[in-house]
Amino acid sequence: MKLFLDSAKTDEIQHALAMWDLDGITTNPRHVRDSGKSFLRVIDEIAELVGGTNKPVSVEVNPHLTDWKQIVAEGLALSKRSPNFVIKVGASEGGFKAIRELARQGVRTNATLIFSVAQAWHAARAGASYISPFLGWKEQYGDSIGGFVREIRTMLDNFGYKSEIIAAAIRNSRQLADAAVAGAHCATAAMAVYQDSFRDPYTNMGEGIFQEAWDSTPPAAEK
Ligand code: E4P
Repeated sequence: MKLFLDSAKTDEIQHALAMWDLDGITTNPRHVRDSGKSFLRVIDEIAELVGGTNKPVSVEVNPHLTDWKQIVAEGLALSKRSPNFVIKVGASEGGFKAIRELARQGVRTNATLIFSVAQAWHAARAGASYISPFLGWKEQYGDSIGGFVREIRTMLDNFGYKSEIIAAAIRNSRQLADAAVAGAHCATAAMAVYQDSFRDPYTNMGEGIFQEAWDSTPPAAEK
C-alpha cells in the first residue's frame, strides 16, 4: 500500500519526503486553508518539492463547481501547472462526466468524497486514476470500513478497472491496517496519524526493559 500524506503544509511534506520515502500527496480545500497560503501559491510550492519525481499530488477543483464543463476547464488549467498534479473532483453526476472528459484528454483524476461502492463504480467507469473513499468519516458514523474497501477492490478487480483506491481520511493505525488488509492500493492520512503508527506502548515498554538489562550487564573488564 502506497503512503500518501494528506496535507498542504510544505514543512510536513518535506519531512515526509526525507524520512518516509513518501509516495504521493493529497490536498483538499481544508488543507489549503490550514496552510495559510493562497491555493495557487501552495500547490505550486508543493509541485516544486516533488519536481522531477513521479509522485502524484492531488489538487482539488473549486468545490462550488457543478457544471462539468467548468470542472474540466479548471482541471485542465491546473494540470498544466505541474505534471505531478492529479485533479481531484467530487462525486456527482457532473463530476463523473468531468472525470471522463479529463481522462479522455489524458489528465489524471482523483474521485473524491466517495461513500458508496456505486459511486466508486461510476468513478472507475469514467476512468478515474484514483478513487478516494473517506474511511474516517464513514467509521465516525458507525459504518465498517474494511468491508467497504474490500467491496470496492472486488468491483475493480471483477472488471479489470485500472483505478487505484486511496483509503482517505484515515484517523488511526487500526484504520490503516484495515485498509491495507482489505486491499487499498494507497492510504492517505495526516502527519500525526503516521507518526502515531510508528509507535506502540508495548514497544516503549520493551525498550525500557532492554535498556535496564543493558545498563545492568557487567562491563567487558569484569569478564
Ligand atoms: C483525501 O484525499 C482527503 O483530502 C482527506 O482524506 C479528507 O479528510 P479530512 O477529513 O482529513 O480532511
